[in-house]
Amino acid sequence: MGNVAVFASGEGSNFQAIADALKNSRHQVALLVCDKKKAHVLQRAQEAGIPVETINYLQYRTREAAEKDLLPRLEQYSIDLIALAGFMRLLSPLLVDAYKDRIINIHPSLLPKYPGTHGIEESYKSGDKELGVTIHRVDYGLDTGPIIRQRKMRRVEGESLEDFESRIHALEHGLYPEVIFDILEGRIH
Ligand code: GRF
Repeated sequence: MGNVAVFASGEGSNFQAIADALKNSRHQVALLVCDKKKAHVLQRAQEAGIPVETINYLQYRTREAAEKDLLPRLEQYSIDLIALAGFMRLLSPLLVDAYKDRIINIHPSLLPKYPGTHGIEESYKSGDKELGVTIHRVDYGLDTGPIIRQRKMRRVEGESLEDFESRIHALEHGLYPEVIFDILEGRIH
């Protein structure tokens, strides 16, 4: 059985997709970690009955100090895998090393193209015919870790940014739970 901690800062649609997919399996989302007091994802966790740990980075001098406080809390939940899903912060080396090769992230572009916070808009404006989403391992950089899997879609000429974004999210919601299952079941090492 695998325990997943999802880290999210905002809407939480990926958190929801992962929690729903794992619900009837031998794995579970054991914890949500959130750094924003009013994020909608908090409500989703409450409705799903999933425990929450909040982390307020602003109360600390450094990222390391904040995550040093988080580590013992994570240990209580016996976390096997950390899945970043719209967590709008770069993790410090302290946490990355503590969960070495057990932290993954989803990004709404075909990395290495369009890393950073505007992946969707930059993909949309790029004119690229092939677009998509990426799951990768987390290292010290911003969206730089080794790629685990990508899923592609074709550009639809004249499509609005809003519709494009919906298609990207639909891809994410399919791919992320799939990769998490494969990792927890030992099909990805
Ligand atoms: C997703 O597009 C994800 O790829 C990016 O942030 C967004 C989070 O969306 N890193 P949500 O909070 O899961 O709805």
